[in-house]
Amino acid sequence: MRCMPAAGFARPIEPLKQGEIALWLAKVSALQDVAGGTADAPSIEQAAQMLDAEETERLVRFRHLEDRMSYLAAHAGARMLLGRLIDVPAKTLRFEPSAHGKPALVAGPADFDFSLSHARGAVAVAAARMSIGVDIEPLREVDDMASISEIALAEEERKVLWSAPAALRSRLFLRYWTLKEALLKAAGLGFTIPPNIVVIDAGPSPAVLSVPDALGPAGQWRLIASAV
Ligand SMILES: CC(C)(COP(=O)(O)OP(=O)(O)OC[C@H]1O[C@@H](n2cnc3c(N)ncnc32)[C@H](O)[C@@H]1OP(=O)(O)O)[C@@H](O)C(=O)NCCC(=O)NCCS
Repeated sequence: MRCMPAAGFARPIEPLKQGEIALWLAKVSALQDVAGGTADAPSIEQAAQMLDAEETERLVRFRHLEDRMSYLAAHAGARMLLGRLIDVPAKTLRFEPSAHGKPALVAGPADFDFSLSHARGAVAVAAARMSIGVDIEPLREVDDMASISEIALAEEERKVLWSAPAALRSRLFLRYWTLKEALLKAAGLGFTIPPNIVVIDAGPSPAVLSVPDALGPAGQWRLIASAV
């Protein structure tokens, strides 16, 4: 795993090796701006100029400033990171969605994949020369755990959740949720697959236990979790 300190870089960076993952994680503040901007941290205006017409149209539709800033950071950040990894200017990258909506680089290297996630206050972008999915969620108390866990978790996972100490349950639920969402994003299917038919072990060394046929063999997927 190559954890990137910034999404943008003044100089080219090492291309990805087979099996390597580049990950950029960042906090996003609604008020944060860097006057003038730098190659590592562009200003809001410079970031907005990297987006294409469709991204710009989606950006302005966000009603909450925090959501807008996270969307901007994730999309500009993805462009900067991917552009550096394949040595193409960020603004010229073009994306096309798959049948289920996973964006892919147009004319990118054949084995190259990426994934992004934006939540209020934080963003994540991951890239690799294999299928990859990333998800980020703010740690918080989860309301209505009983009904949401029915939708998100398989029966055996719900048993693990409800046997955990009450004070740890929200954290455990969010761990299940982000790992499953990342897996479904890696497969390019998102929530077209109900998350409660995917079974994982969300323990200290997370693992995929059982998946529907659309995801292929469970053993081909690797899960990585972190709480920051
Ligand atoms: C992918 C999905 C799980 C994202 O969930 P989320 O928690 O709202 O959002 P995140 O910030 O973590 O991820 C969003 C990003 O995932 C990516 N994404 C969208 N669909 C995806 C898919 N099928 N597979 C992988 N990644 C996908 C996009 O980059 C998206 O960013 P954008 O909305 O800014 O363009 C959810 O939107 C989904 O299941 N979509 C697919 C099903 C669907 O509705 N399809 C209809 C289109 S055919």
